[in-house]
Amino acid sequence: MNKATARAHPNIALIKYWGKRDQALFLPATSSFSMTLDGLSATTTVEFSERFSADQVELDGRPIEGKALLRFQMLFDRVRALSGVDCPVRVASTNDFPTAAGLASSAAGGAALAAATSWAAGLDLGAHDLSRLSRQFSGSACRSVEGGFCEWRRGERPDGQDSFAVQVAPPAHWPSLRMVVAVCSGAEKPLSSRAAMQHSVETSPFFAAWVDQVPRDLALAKEALLRRDLGALGPIVETNACRIHAVALGAHPPTFYMRPLTIEVIDAVQSLRRDEGVGAWFTLDAGPNPVVLCEEKDAPRVAARLRRIEGVERLVTAGPGEGVCRLDEHLF
Ligand code: DP6
Repeated sequence: MNKATARAHPNIALIKYWGKRDQALFLPATSSFSMTLDGLSATTTVEFSERFSADQVELDGRPIEGKALLRFQMLFDRVRALSGVDCPVRVASTNDFPTAAGLASSAAGGAALAAATSWAAGLDLGAHDLSRLSRQFSGSACRSVEGGFCEWRRGERPDGQDSFAVQVAPPAHWPSLRMVVAVCSGAEKPLSSRAAMQHSVETSPFFAAWVDQVPRDLALAKEALLRRDLGALGPIVETNACRIHAVALGAHPPTFYMRPLTIEVIDAVQSLRRDEGVGAWFTLDAGPNPVVLCEEKDAPRVAARLRRIEGVERLVTAGPGEGVCRLDEHLF
């Protein structure tokens, strides 16, 4: 049967990916580094069959059409070319967290899609091949193929063969590390990460400084993670997140992702640290929802503090999660 189902988890970058050196191949300007989250997930079923008259994709029950479908079809075509399976495909995918609100839904969805499509076509790709395939659906997806802490190496080759994610440490390396996601708005973001990062590449004078700085941030973050030293990791994570927003704010016209509530959450995190000695640091993707990095013992206190802020819709606490896995139960 040419049908398979995969589940993958989102990842949140500790050191961000912001800007491509090759848009068609999804080759990043810099390497990046992330933690895969447990708890939240995307589940995707893929079937290849002559019964279908055309490729069809459904996300959380909504059909995907037009330009959005083309992005999926590029991945299907790659898998068809690799496997020799040459018939239409049907895909259904569900997310248990808000789509397109800065919670890296495309990362979990992209990794699950690449895995399920390759399995449904009978391919048995290794983690690095799956990472390369996921990368070409959404860059950050390549970091959700494996669990724990992964580095997406930018690579040097123009064909992108050396641009994929490698696991730096498994989830068991630091099982007590937590990320508390503060959902300030589940609404769609005004500008996708894809469009915004390209806009930064083309118009932000700070982009070159960003590219220059990331290798230093990444080396420090990796060392701190390998030593399980949150006091060293937290500050670099917070600074690196602020730097992508500085690059985006320097674009013309500027790209803003923060909402008033985002700033309130950030203030609360900084005051917990300054006034109460809690080891908590924030990061922020291309959306309004801050994610707080802390130890398991402090997560309830962080969550209790953020819950008091009016407007925070939901708090999700996650530890380091596993990579993509195969499920026997299908969505259709
Ligand atoms: C801010 O991976 O969504 O979350 O490669 O164009 O699909 P595309 O972009 P995407 O960008 C993620 C940007 C980020 C930072 C990160 O996850 O590293």
